Order: sequence, then structure tokens, then C-alpha cells
Amino acid sequence: MLLLAFTWAITAPIWFTHGVQSHPTAAAPARRDGSADVDWGSIRCPAANSPETFPTPSYRTEKGLFLVCTEQVINATPQDVYHALLDFQAYSAWNSFVRYVALPADVVKTPDDVYVGLVTRFTTAGILPLVNTTSVEIVTVTKGSFDDGSSPGEGEPAPGTTAGRYLMAAWRYDDGLHGAAERSEHPNILVDRGDGTTLYISYETFFVGPGALLLLPLKDTLQKLYTQQGLDLKAYIEKGV
Ligand SMILES: *[C@@H]1O[C@H](CO)[C@@H](O)[C@H](O)[C@H]1NC(C)=O
Repeated sequence: MLLLAFTWAITAPIWFTHGVQSHPTAAAPARRDGSADVDWGSIRCPAANSPETFPTPSYRTEKGLFLVCTEQVINATPQDVYHALLDFQAYSAWNSFVRYVALPADVVKTPDDVYVGLVTRFTTAGILPLVNTTSVEIVTVTKGSFDDGSSPGEGEPAPGTTAGRYLMAAWRYDDGLHGAAERSEHPNILVDRGDGTTLYISYETFFVGPGALLLLPLKDTLQKLYTQQGLDLKAYIEKGV
């Protein structure tokens, strides 16, 4: 996410002069092929300052430049957390980072009307001082049911328990240039802890490219915003709204 109009203005000359736009790399399409090459349910945030990055559903084999990641144990079921995450119309009620999500006319009610391929526009606060920023985000994964056989693959529960199963929702940033400027994606993984609580893992990998290079100095800011967003979500859900 997050290549703002602002950054655009700064970076446009760079990729135009380097001819990137005339040789756009093929952006990985959103994949729903169910290939089980990534065990999403076992992903956990690395230690702070680790150089590690994770693949994402749309960009499984690309090289990450940097990662922001946060985890929270939320006292609610994965289904409840999933519902809140895709209830984009309610974001302004709890999310200090994503202040508003603009939706197309075919989405009347969230989360019910959210679908893979949905194009949204996020208004975000806190990346730059004093101004809001916007980014186009496209929903890439809606795995809202344990029975949902669609991509990505389901974690194997331990026998006789639901622990370890997970739900997942993800969206990717769209730079309007087929990924030539910036490729990044935000998976949210909701692991069932088997006791009515959920381990919420939220991360975004920024893949090697001009956009990620420009955002690299903002990594600590982005990490703080992600951490706060996780805390916001936990507070909102546990308040029982
Ligand atoms: C940022 O966006 C929010 C939600 O749309 C709005 O309430 C707020 O006034 C905006 N802030 C600025 C500085 O534009």
C-alpha cells in the first residue's frame, strides 16, 4: 500500500527517466490457485530489526525489500476478527491509521459485499505529518470460512481441536503501473488458538522496486502505524462492538 500522490510526484521522474514505465515488469496477478507452497497459518512476526521478509499471496516468489509486521492475541473468535477486518465501512470507528475506505457502488454493505478483486481507496493518516495520504488497494484473499477450500490452503488442526486453523484476508497496493513502481501486499492471518481467542498476524511486505526504496526511510513510521492498528483492532473487538 501507501504509494501516495506525494511520493508519486517525487518518484515519477525517476522511473520515467529510467524507462521503467516503458518496460513494465509483469505484475503477479492475484492468485487463488490453492497452491499450498506457503504455510500461511505458521507465519509469525520476526524479531524487531530482522531483515526477514515474507511472501504474500500475490507475490510468492519475489524478493522483499522490507517488512512491517504486528501480532496480537485478541479475545474473540477468528470469525469475529475476520468480520471486523473486512467491515471497511466501520474503519473510521476504530482505525487510527486507515481513517476511511472508499468503496465502489456495488458494495452496499461490508463485510458481506466484499469480494476478491474489489478495488478500494484507503485514506491513511500518520505517514506524513499533517496530511492524509491515499492508496488504491485491491482485495486479493477472502478466506472467511474454515470450510472454504479456496486459496490459500488451510492449516491442519490438531486432532480433536480447532487450534491452528486460520482465516485470512489480504489486499495489495495497486500503483496503476502493473507493479513497475511499487508492489506491496497486506495479509491478515487469524489463527484459531483453540480457546475462543485468536492470534492476529498482520504484515505487509514491500517488494524490491523503486517505490519500496522510497518508502524504506518510512519503515519505522509504518511499523508504528501497523502496531497501533493492531492494538486498535483488538480494543475495538474486545469492547464487543
Ligand atoms: C483525514 O481523513 C479523515 C477521514 O476522511 C478526515 O476526518 C480528516 O479530517 C482528514 N485529515 C486531514 C488533515 O485532511
